Amino acid sequence: MAGGIGSRFWPYSRNNRPKQFLDILGTGRTLLQMTFDRFQEIASTDRVFVVTNQDYLDLVKEQLPELDDKQILTEPLRRNTATCIAYATYKINKIDPDATMVVAPADHLITQEKKFQIAIEKAIAGAQIDQRLITLGIKPNRPETGYGYIQYLEEDDQEIYKVKTFTEKPNLKLAKTFLESGDFVWNSGMFVWKLKSLIAAFEKYMPDVAEVFIEGNEYFGKDDERDFIDRAYSLLKNISIDNGIMEQSDQVFVIPTEFGWSDLGSWHSLYELKKKDKKNNVVEGNAILYDTENSFVKVNSDKLVVVQGLDNYLINESDNVILICKLDAEKKFREFVANAKKKG
Ligand code: GDD
Ligand code: MG
Repeated sequence: MAGGIGSRFWPYSRNNRPKQFLDILGTGRTLLQMTFDRFQEIASTDRVFVVTNQDYLDLVKEQLPELDDKQILTEPLRRNTATCIAYATYKINKIDPDATMVVAPADHLITQEKKFQIAIEKAIAGAQIDQRLITLGIKPNRPETGYGYIQYLEEDDQEIYKVKTFTEKPNLKLAKTFLESGDFVWNSGMFVWKLKSLIAAFEKYMPDVAEVFIEGNEYFGKDDERDFIDRAYSLLKNISIDNGIMEQSDQVFVIPTEFGWSDLGSWHSLYELKKKDKKNNVVEGNAILYDTENSFVKVNSDKLVVVQGLDNYLINESDNVILICKLDAEKKFREFVANAKKKG
């Protein structure tokens, strides 16, 4: 899934180049490329599909020249992950209805690749049983309200646990209760299931989506696929797979795991990962800092930025924008981006 806009990394992440297409960690590979690399051990290249907005087709082609055009599914509108996953599901169903599907966001960081692979293999094996919808769970360390929370039943001791409750993005009060109770994990947003199981779930919990895409069977792989997708997307609602299926289904299972995961959801989470200097600052690009600590300064042009007297700030200079705000101001970014758009 590579169709999000990554607005919390604005202004570095822009509408025309969202975070999955950026080398945000400075490794020489973008997040999309790193995700592709990670799956080399899991699936052959011809079985990798990228779903993205049509505006990003050229970026995907440029960054993943290994993919054939027909492996890049482009969306005319942003309709969230349920629609994105449905498109891929029904399209792949025409190619290999017996496939097992691994769904992964293109913009996450995973540092322990081997452990990740082991977890995915476990999930693939587990997904062959009944109509299981499997997700990978991460142990929480803060009451984050940007994630889904999963409570599971401890008794089935198979390393794969039946999910008792799945709560997508709780409010802070609820998130705190979940964290304190100790029996919740975060939903990593990575899913494993047989296509057949997911199709059954779409039919049961999102029948309107199923109905639209079943018609696609006659168009996929043909010239009028584009027209069909334009029509389908205009009919469908904006809804995530978490709200649409994971919160509803009684077939959801979780593998609690640990593989150095971060969803890289904000400047603050990126700062946490980076190497800091003696004053706890991260400085990238051309900048001189005085009496400044716990701050993240990232200058993308060749401008020189001079900073004095800041604590816990973010400064990012990208293209025609300079953003200066508290490092943990992630809740404000929607507003920043919306108002910046109005300014032109
Ligand atoms: N192709 C496509 N089309 N991709 C999309 C779209 C879309 O319309 N919307 C989102 N994506 C991509 C994003 O780029 C990202 O890689 C992934 O799908 C997940 O979407 P997000 O919008 O980032 O979801 P989230 O972070 O709010 O929540 C999900 O991930 C959390 C973990 O990071 C949920 O699954 C949560 O439960 C989970 O905790
Ligand atoms: Mg996300």
